[in-house]
Amino acid sequence: MTTDNRIKSIVVLGGGTAGWMSAAYLGRALGDTVKITVLEAPAIPRIGVGEATIANLQKVFFDFLGLREEEWMPECNASFKMGIRFVNWRTPGAGQSDGRTFGQGKDHFDHLFGLLPEHDNLPLSHYWTHKRLNGLTEEPFDRACYPQPAVFDQKLSPRYLDGTKWASYAWHFDANLVADFLRRFSTQRQGAVHIEDKFVSAEIDQRGHITSIRTEGGLTLEADLFVDCSGFRSLLINQTMKEPFLDMSDHLLNDRAVATQVPHDDEAEGIEPFTSSIAMSSGWTWKIPMLGRFGTGYVYSSRFATQDEATEEFCRMWGLDPETQPLNHVKFRVGRNRRAWVKNCVGIGLASCFLEPLESTGIYFVYAALYQLVKNFPDKRFDPVLTHRFNSEIETMFDDTRDFIQAHFSFAPRNDTPFWRACKELELAEGFKEKVALYKSGLGVNLPITDESGYYGNFEAEFRNFWSNANYYCMFAGLDFLPDHTMPALAHRPDSIATAEAKFAEVKKREEELLRTLPSTYDYLRQLHGK
Ligand code: FDA
Repeated sequence: MTTDNRIKSIVVLGGGTAGWMSAAYLGRALGDTVKITVLEAPAIPRIGVGEATIANLQKVFFDFLGLREEEWMPECNASFKMGIRFVNWRTPGAGQSDGRTFGQGKDHFDHLFGLLPEHDNLPLSHYWTHKRLNGLTEEPFDRACYPQPAVFDQKLSPRYLDGTKWASYAWHFDANLVADFLRRFSTQRQGAVHIEDKFVSAEIDQRGHITSIRTEGGLTLEADLFVDCSGFRSLLINQTMKEPFLDMSDHLLNDRAVATQVPHDDEAEGIEPFTSSIAMSSGWTWKIPMLGRFGTGYVYSSRFATQDEATEEFCRMWGLDPETQPLNHVKFRVGRNRRAWVKNCVGIGLASCFLEPLESTGIYFVYAALYQLVKNFPDKRFDPVLTHRFNSEIETMFDDTRDFIQAHFSFAPRNDTPFWRACKELELAEGFKEKVALYKSGLGVNLPITDESGYYGNFEAEFRNFWSNANYYCMFAGLDFLPDHTMPALAHRPDSIATAEAKFAEVKKREEELLRTLPSTYDYLRQLHGK
């Protein structure tokens, strides 16, 4: 008779976004072969921020759960995000929510979802570079290559009123509502057990595996596998398993945030279908529009601004009174656990890793880790090959994103405060310098091996090539950090250069059509939310 080594029980410690996403995803993947219990201390609040996402959330997470957008969006006050608008990253000055004057226009540019259009097997970025470096265009990269920036200006929707989708997009939502929605989903539809009590200690066997955890209320919860979603406290993976957290403040300086919510008159002003990232004196501020309000927070470095200074600059920008406005002050750690999975304990969410939310990657890291956990799911023997595979995937995912975010600060032309000057002194990782060298020499960086539907339709392909050429160009060209020269091979393709003009003209034609036909984001969301 063969031994049944299957994992039969999982305890998830923590009921924040990560905890309930884990319960829902693992419940779906493992069905009723495994009992899932979530332990959450109601007296210990969730982090309560985490409101912007990236475009594969529906495909990789909600589709997997069998949840359509129309089902979860109204429950989570969700709105659309077609990209991130970077405001005032090139001009000096204190926090200002609209773009300062820059050249002929305003100091903002857009980092968009989706891949770049191609012409003759080369992305449009290379033809734009050719024009720009030869003085043939003054038009910024984003506006030359995508119709979205003009759509952003008019606050139009990524969907027509009949539901037809014309662009890749992600979502803004209320993180607490998402956790509550997934709690209901997991407990009512998938049979997860929810226990409200406080973790106090863990029992470890002679192999160093956790056998059970104890609660303040006197419960002992045994399981084969423990998923640590206890947030920055990291009660199991750091505190119990003693796995070291690798601090990465030598790459990124920000370690604090001051956050709040600001009421908004949607009918009068419309709803922006994008996240804004506004450069400040010692960091940057997010603006995440939702129905009736926007969430906002100043992410800053405590080495360069005190809490009072950051609060003052933040409140001044939005016209808020710091004495009366409810403000959430958050202190965060930057980096990841040396190993995300140790023996029978896997850290997910803030318990595992964290990067400032400049590219809204926190929730992405949660479902990417769940995807990898299910792919490398263990049995009770805990074969180290599976653990090792999972850990190296998480390490690559995290470090690659850390480097890309660091580059935002390194290549921003701003140099007007000690914070911005200090960013320029931080060393980029060696592997990342090679990508920068490719870009500078006119080559593509991480060129996608598939078209847009293949990219978003196959998470395996996307995960392996996450920040691709379009991302590098949007950010680097947006910051005015340009290649040194055009791709040399392009000089031998004069016909391609000439015919690329038709592609640029197509972008303009598409833009006109979209501006003429799209509904406003406000109208679309009102219809969706039944308001
Ligand atoms: P969280 O702290 O929310 O939950 C921890 C849970 O553990 C709680 O339920 C708590 O009760 C429980 N717990 C703790 N101690 C316990 C004990 N002793 N016993 C029992 N239970 C216990 N991400 C993103 O994708 N987009 C974004 O825009 C942002 N923005 C953002 C801004 C800032 C300032 C921060 C700090 C973070 C973000 N994030 C983000 C990240 C995002 O917030 C985060 O990834 C998710 O909310 C997941 O959080 P967790 O569930 O891991 O922790």
